[in-house]
Amino acid sequence: MSNTIATDVETLFRPFPFGRVNLPNRLVMAPMTRSKSPGNVPGAEVAAYYRRRAEGGVGLIVTEGTHPDFRGAHGSPDVPNFFGAALSGWQRVVDEVHGAGGFIIPQIWHVGSVRKKGVGPDPDEAIVGPSAVMHPVHLSRGEPPPGAEIPEAMTQADIDACVGAYRQAAVDAVATGFDGIEIHGAHSYLIDQFFWSVTNQRQDAYGGNLAQRTRFATEIVAAMRAAVPEDFPIVFRFSQWKSGDYNHKMAASAEELDSFLQPLVEAGVDIFHCSTRRFNDPEFSGSDLNLAGWTKKLTGKPSITVGSVGLDNDFLRTFGGQEARKAGLDDLIRRMENNEFDLVAIGRALLSDPAWVQKIRTGREAEVIEFTRDYLQKLA
Ligand SMILES: Cc1cc2nc3c(=O)[nH]c(=O)nc-3n(C[C@H](O)[C@H](O)[C@H](O)COP(=O)(O)O)c2cc1C
Repeated sequence: MSNTIATDVETLFRPFPFGRVNLPNRLVMAPMTRSKSPGNVPGAEVAAYYRRRAEGGVGLIVTEGTHPDFRGAHGSPDVPNFFGAALSGWQRVVDEVHGAGGFIIPQIWHVGSVRKKGVGPDPDEAIVGPSAVMHPVHLSRGEPPPGAEIPEAMTQADIDACVGAYRQAAVDAVATGFDGIEIHGAHSYLIDQFFWSVTNQRQDAYGGNLAQRTRFATEIVAAMRAAVPEDFPIVFRFSQWKSGDYNHKMAASAEELDSFLQPLVEAGVDIFHCSTRRFNDPEFSGSDLNLAGWTKKLTGKPSITVGSVGLDNDFLRTFGGQEARKAGLDDLIRRMENNEFDLVAIGRALLSDPAWVQKIRTGREAEVIEFTRDYLQKLA
């Protein structure tokens, strides 16, 4: 990626129809866990943090992952719920964002077998997953860490209850005034554990080849679709990479990717959010298209790209202790002009600078507040 700052950013500032609203531009805040919700309820500080991004001109905000009401959903402390007392906290978030002229959708997230025993609010709650297989991330550094255990394989009753919890989250997202909803089907959390052959070794209708392993996800999407108005967008986030195997290609070819995507389209996904570490990595050999590019081409559905936009290295390096520096947007703009994807999600750059979007629009890149690792800890 070139380090020259592009001047023609207009293509990023075309409106985009999203359910009942028109997003003012193509720039989306990526979902980012902040762990700033004591008691699993998002408070005033969290609402003000999202409001600042709306004021800064972000076209659409995807909230941090927030847990549905099915056991074992929690994987780390102070992450907000999407049920019970947390819903009034979310109501405040929606009101603040709408008050600033922004749009927002929640990301619904069950961590599955990544959970470790001892994490609140129910520290003794079971660890669940598609199969009784220790999550590979727990084995990636030798001995499993304290609290990591082989999960309980979900029964049909568990699956039905979990699908019901996602459905209820969609109902509550509508009632709270959100502009749509995102399902976290990426990064080897519960839904992705069903997609991944290592964590899904089921012999029933939820296991099998990649297309068959989408069944749990398609039941969730279909249940949500039936519970919300037709024009309430359902966004589905997925990734090829897995925690514990960052170079994994769940779909090894475009044909295999197609076999994965079509059942999700049929179930009712409106937009695919294609999580990659670097948006400018070609997904398969023989073409420059990235994952979002292939997804849009294969499904005809709009897609969101993400990964190292405006920064010169990826977020896993950030978690590993490296800093990232500002990078230019030329390649992003070229791809957007080619209609490779429809929307672009920005993660870390928006943690340090809530006004990143405005500054890019008005040619003030030099004023962008540089992302450094200390922003991971605070709600700037
Ligand atoms: C602090 C932090 C928390 C994150 N939490 C989530 C999350 O809750 N859900 C999710 O799907 N991705 C999560 N991600 C991944 C981001 O959504 C995004 O895909 C990633 O940061 C790449 O974008 P970037 O290079 O612009 O930062 C997180 C990333 C960061 C840096």
